Amino acid sequence: MRMKNKYRKPNTLRWNAGSRCSLLVWSLVGFLVMLYLYTFIHDTNVKNEEHQMHISHHLQFRELEEVEEENLQIPAPRGKRSPRADKRRPRKVHTSLIDEFLDESSKLRRIFFPDETTAIDPMNGTGNDTSCYYPGRMWLDTEGNPIQAHGGGILYDEKTETYYWYGEFKDGPTYHAHKRGAARVDVIGVGCYSSKDLWIWKNEGIVLAAEEKNETHDLHKLNVLERPKVIYNNMTGKYVMWMHIDDVNYTKASVGVAISNSPTGPFNYLYSKRPHGFDSRDMTIFKDDDGVAYLIYSSEDNSELHIGPLNEEYLDVTNIMRRILVGQHREAPALFKHQGTYYMITSGCTGWAPNEALAHAAESIMGPWETIGNPCVGGNKIFQQTTFFSQGTFVLPLPGFPGSFIVMADRWNPADLRDSRYVWLPLTVGGRVDEPLQYSFGFPLWSRVSIYWHKKWRLPRRWGVKES
Ligand code: GAL
Repeated sequence: MRMKNKYRKPNTLRWNAGSRCSLLVWSLVGFLVMLYLYTFIHDTNVKNEEHQMHISHHLQFRELEEVEEENLQIPAPRGKRSPRADKRRPRKVHTSLIDEFLDESSKLRRIFFPDETTAIDPMNGTGNDTSCYYPGRMWLDTEGNPIQAHGGGILYDEKTETYYWYGEFKDGPTYHAHKRGAARVDVIGVGCYSSKDLWIWKNEGIVLAAEEKNETHDLHKLNVLERPKVIYNNMTGKYVMWMHIDDVNYTKASVGVAISNSPTGPFNYLYSKRPHGFDSRDMTIFKDDDGVAYLIYSSEDNSELHIGPLNEEYLDVTNIMRRILVGQHREAPALFKHQGTYYMITSGCTGWAPNEALAHAAESIMGPWETIGNPCVGGNKIFQQTTFFSQGTFVLPLPGFPGSFIVMADRWNPADLRDSRYVWLPLTVGGRVDEPLQYSFGFPLWSRVSIYWHKKWRLPRRWGVKES
């Protein structure tokens, strides 16, 4: 008995501990199931509401979500091809078609770079093609010249109710500074075009010009000026331009800042620096709803991105900086915001050769940022894996259509950079991501970001009309 008694207590205790433990585990499981159900139902409701809203408000834009297929025959590998194309071959799959794309002697080139007979010329009797975007075709300004605004971005100026498109004015011969250098053109400056409808663009001239003589100047024509972006500072009333400044070998890896009283310039170049003391190559700036602007740049040899707020005047960074997408080797960042969530499109790092875009999302602009996958829909697999043979540069919200955007990308032509083309396509945020994220435990965290392929498309007729 004594023995029994002696051992009963510990036994009971063990049983109790065990049962308590399993009770705890089951409670936890129950809680998680409830949480999952709640999140699922809540999410479904939110998504349904979003969907309803989408249908009622975006019927016209929804047409743009139907994509076109591309049926390109991939040619058999050829014995002889341009050695330049070989050097630029990215590591990814489908190299043969990318080779054809890069090979200036390829017969397929006309598909990617159609000649001037198909140019979009808004001033010259476009008939059924009025207001139509044709990604990859030449696009002429109001004077009939090809638009020169590569790696660019758009500012909507409230004062003049006008869109301004700024970009690299690359209208010179392409050459290699030395054997191992990237294809380049001499810097001419930043081109600016204005438009009321995002289709007819008037050349406003070079708003920040290269320096011809002074070889030590950042803007000397033998240096690099890429990806200029302009935002307006409400406090100072100034237009502020940030850009990638580099030398011919891309070792300076800095940002440059310029300022103007008018969106059409001239911009006064202030200085360049390595932000937060780090190398900075592809970059962009983003102005948030609260007026705080941020610089986002590829750093640590393009292995990660850095993000940090600018000072109040937008003329410098502050000492706040976060590393994001660490080890992911992304560049060409383009940021946008929808319903309080921040999104970003980036490219991989393969120079002028196209590669797969990725979309990323974050609750806070300073991170953490999560990668949600390839946003490209339609065309065909290789179109999706090459961002439709282009590289993103900017995402423009479409007024009057919340959740709908235009994504601006460059179809680089490294054989003749001035003849690089623009790929503008509709982008929407909505619906659930294809696959749950690695660390989301099955909880859908983000909405899907989709870029839809179209050979030809136009904005909905009543876009920009404010609903009362
Ligand atoms: C790309 C970059 C371009 C340009 C190019 C030069 O990766 O996005 O802006 O710098 O490299 O090879």
